[in-house]
Amino acid sequence: TDGPLVDRYGRVARDLRVSLTDKCNLRCTYCMPAEGLPWLAGPQLLTDAEIVRLVRIAVRDLGVTEVRFTGGEPLIRPGLVGIVAEVAALEPRPRISLTTNGIGLARLAPTLRAAGLDRVNVSLDTLDADRFTRLTRRDRLADVLAGLAGATAAGLTPVKVNTVLMRGVNDDEAPALLRFALDHGYELRFIEQMPLDAQHGWDRAAMVTAEEILAALRTTFDLRPDPAERGAAPAETWLVDGGPARVGVIASVTRPFCGDCDRTRLTADGQVRACLFATEESDLRGALRAGADDAELARRWRTAMWGKRAGHGIDDPTFLQPARPMSAIGG
Ligand code: GTP
Ligand code: 5AD
Ligand code: SF4
Repeated sequence: TDGPLVDRYGRVARDLRVSLTDKCNLRCTYCMPAEGLPWLAGPQLLTDAEIVRLVRIAVRDLGVTEVRFTGGEPLIRPGLVGIVAEVAALEPRPRISLTTNGIGLARLAPTLRAAGLDRVNVSLDTLDADRFTRLTRRDRLADVLAGLAGATAAGLTPVKVNTVLMRGVNDDEAPALLRFALDHGYELRFIEQMPLDAQHGWDRAAMVTAEEILAALRTTFDLRPDPAERGAAPAETWLVDGGPARVGVIASVTRPFCGDCDRTRLTADGQVRACLFATEESDLRGALRAGADDAELARRWRTAMWGKRAGHGIDDPTFLQPARPMSAIGG
């Protein structure tokens, strides 16, 4: 009834991902349909104060040391800057990061930095404006590029770029994206697509694999295994052309890293998810609004994590995609 978030397999969750909203201002085809999704209603969302209270419990009582804000798109949450500032004032102060599509980041980066944000990861799947518009269904490539530059200028570094490659869409762009990242000092990571899209259209056979990505990069770059300790990071990294620049691959499907997972997740409506692929959630919002004290909330969080599954099981014949799509979990 005390101590950190451990599960029955001995993993310890030190990294909390908090989804601040399920809404987004893009409509990436691999994520959600053109019309969007039935968004959570206002009263279902945790308030800013409720979020800060739960994060406080996580860092003070549960041993969480890293807090990442996600979405949907976290920059569209009105209270974001205030939430970051309050989390940065917690004792012990966690490291604070943000995963964003970059729209609006150019304007917000200095404010977020001043509030205590340490670094950002920005999604970018193509450098071609027409392709970007087809892929995200919005003509916003310039905003994302400005956001990346603004993040660097504000010192939200290292700035990481996340790329999902899709066959026949942008899978010819791997070397160009890496060249771009090297030129700008961003750390690029390629992500294998996971079965978390709202449309349930994921196709294992169509997925661009880590092996294919590495082969494509090696046509242009020399890649050597990065000697740095990987820890619980989802990305496996390589030194590019002798380093120090690196490139990463997040091979969730073909090279799962679940055995080293150190994640716990909180959805925008206050549910704890032990795993991205969890089929069960634990309702902290209900308990909190029913008057539970901090100790009770911590107890519920520990219980939820104890039940964490060993792995995502994507390759099991019985695999079922979670009911919540990626945009409502926070990736
Ligand atoms: P860093 O701390 O910068 O390495 O962040 P990150 O890579 O963990 O976070 P980010 O939000 O940038 O996520 C990049 C990709 O990793 C996304 O596709 C996430 O869905 C995926 N990811 C993050 N955590 C997990 C996880 O626990 N399991 C799996 N399978 N994928 C994850
Ligand atoms: N599989 C893998 N990554 C995904 N992302 C969104 N949907 C998926 C998916 N089905 C990526 C986004 C963003 C990060 C948080 O997750 O592009 O970079
Ligand atoms: Fe928005 Fe991210 Fe989904 Fe794209 S992948 S629609 S940026 S939540």
